[in-house]
Amino acid sequence: MRKADFDRLREFIYRQTGILFEPQKQYYVERRVEQHMASRGYSSFNEYFSALRFGRGELWQELLNSLTVNETYFFREYDQLKCFAEEVLPLWVGNGAGRAGIKIWSAGCSTGEEAYTLAIIMEEMAQGYPWEIHATDINTEVLARAQEGVYNDYAVRQVPDVYFTRYFTRVNGGYAVSPLLKRRVKFYQVNLMDDARMRQMKGFHAIFCRNVLIYFDDASRRRVALHFYQALEPNGYIFLGHSESMSRITTVFKPVRFKNAIIYQKAG
Ligand SMILES: C[S@@+](CC[C@H](N)C(=O)[O-])C[C@H]1O[C@@H](n2cnc3c(N)ncnc32)[C@H](O)[C@@H]1O
Repeated sequence: MRKADFDRLREFIYRQTGILFEPQKQYYVERRVEQHMASRGYSSFNEYFSALRFGRGELWQELLNSLTVNETYFFREYDQLKCFAEEVLPLWVGNGAGRAGIKIWSAGCSTGEEAYTLAIIMEEMAQGYPWEIHATDINTEVLARAQEGVYNDYAVRQVPDVYFTRYFTRVNGGYAVSPLLKRRVKFYQVNLMDDARMRQMKGFHAIFCRNVLIYFDDASRRRVALHFYQALEPNGYIFLGHSESMSRITTVFKPVRFKNAIIYQKAG
């Protein structure tokens, strides 16, 4: 792929998704594009690129599905989840504050491990309270796998034994999450850079957006952060990956230091 073609493509990807492929990622993108062009019978990049831009979206979705990084597993960043379970949840559960319902969003949920982990925590800690988990991603392939809910050894290796016994069964090809958890998580496609769609996301008490914005630049991160702000209830929390920070991006959230983690909060 010529550098000029790579530049046109990365600019297009950036505008559509917020994901910024640096020049050193040319090989990564190129390999996927070449495979995709071959499988779809394109020999000219120009033709392929205009089909991506002006086609009905299917070709673009296929390429996108091959480009995103989807690494995830159950109980990832355990300390932060412990903070959620032991320090944040008690602010809503046990004192009646969460009686009207607790709404949680896993934004950039990949194959679903984060959302099902949160469902296990809620099932264990928020009994008797109405709660719902929304889990969204831009990649339709990972969403289909999340809905299927079957995982390999790598994905479940950090699930505590007691929860593993309670919420998983051995099936052909791996471990299936229980129907109980599957009923509690709603998976659907949302592009974090789609302003109109993002404005429809409302009423959340906590948003988990971990290891997603690391692929964005600061301008896109800021845009997403402001959408999260309007999607959160007053005093709602936003959980980022441990290498990520909100402070550099925007001051609309204040960092709150808990025993096990620092979490960002919308002012009440
Ligand atoms: C590395 S995974 C993180 C999974 C999980 N949150 C975790 O921490 O284990 C990043 C996910 O973000 C998704 N993603 C990237 N850009 C996105 C966008 N613009 N809108 C929605 N999801 C996006 C990718 O498809 C991918 O599944």
